[in-house]
Amino acid sequence: MFTVAIDGPAASGKGTISRAIAAHFGFAHLDTGLLYRATGRKTLDGTPALEAAQTLTAEDLQGDALRAPDVAQAASKVAAMPDVRKALVDFQRAFAARAGGAVLDGRDIGTVICPDAEVKLFVTASDDVRAERRWKELTFKGHKVSIEEVLADLRERDRRDSTRADAPMKAADDALQLDTTSLSIEEAVASAVKRIEARQAELAKL
Ligand code: CDP
Ligand code: CDP
Repeated sequence: MFTVAIDGPAASGKGTISRAIAAHFGFAHLDTGLLYRATGRKTLDGTPALEAAQTLTAEDLQGDALRAPDVAQAASKVAAMPDVRKALVDFQRAFAARAGGAVLDGRDIGTVICPDAEVKLFVTASDDVRAERRWKELTFKGHKVSIEEVLADLRERDRRDSTRADAPMKAADDALQLDTTSLSIEEAVASAVKRIEARQAELAKL
């Protein structure tokens, strides 16, 4: 078992780095944001938040609709509810413990879900760069939003996510900070791969 925990604010590049690492090392990947997005999406249809979290299916985690800005906001709201977070813990920990290695990305992976992860990264980028990256993605997918709206959405979620009482977004003390503001995807991934290889070499010597 080898677990990589990747946390950071919205649109910092966590998911992109996680997918690349999973492909490079043959690890399984879980985008834990999808659990909150799928839960939030059900609440928009009127399902109570806890019930939504408790009845998630693999199918609920599929589809582009989860990427919509109103779903992201709903996700961040249900993510502040302790009973919702609690309902999602066991699934995430079981995923992290699978043989062959796993990478999980989110907000509380290195601090709460996998405090013993072999590698922890906290990915950041400036607000403006994050807004531009997310705006490009959303525009490409046909969402009509302005950069200003995207920036406001990211800031509001970051504020809610980092100030909630339960499992706030925070870098673990032993996390490596990776600022991707002026890095290409390739550079950011190379830096993460280097860190993981160094840790693997360290563990092999023990
Ligand atoms: O998962 P998270 O919300 O942290 O971010 P993401 O969805 O992985 O990345 C947001 C966007 O930034 C994607 O379109 C990436 O292609 C782009 N990007 C990046 O992730 N890293 C860079 N160094 C440059 C661009
Ligand atoms: O891709 P982006 O970074 O914009 O968002 P995401 O990772 O899909 O997460 C959506 C929302 O879920 C976040 O704003 C958080 O409120 C919540 N979340 C969380 O609380 N804990 C996690 N481990 C992952 C996501």
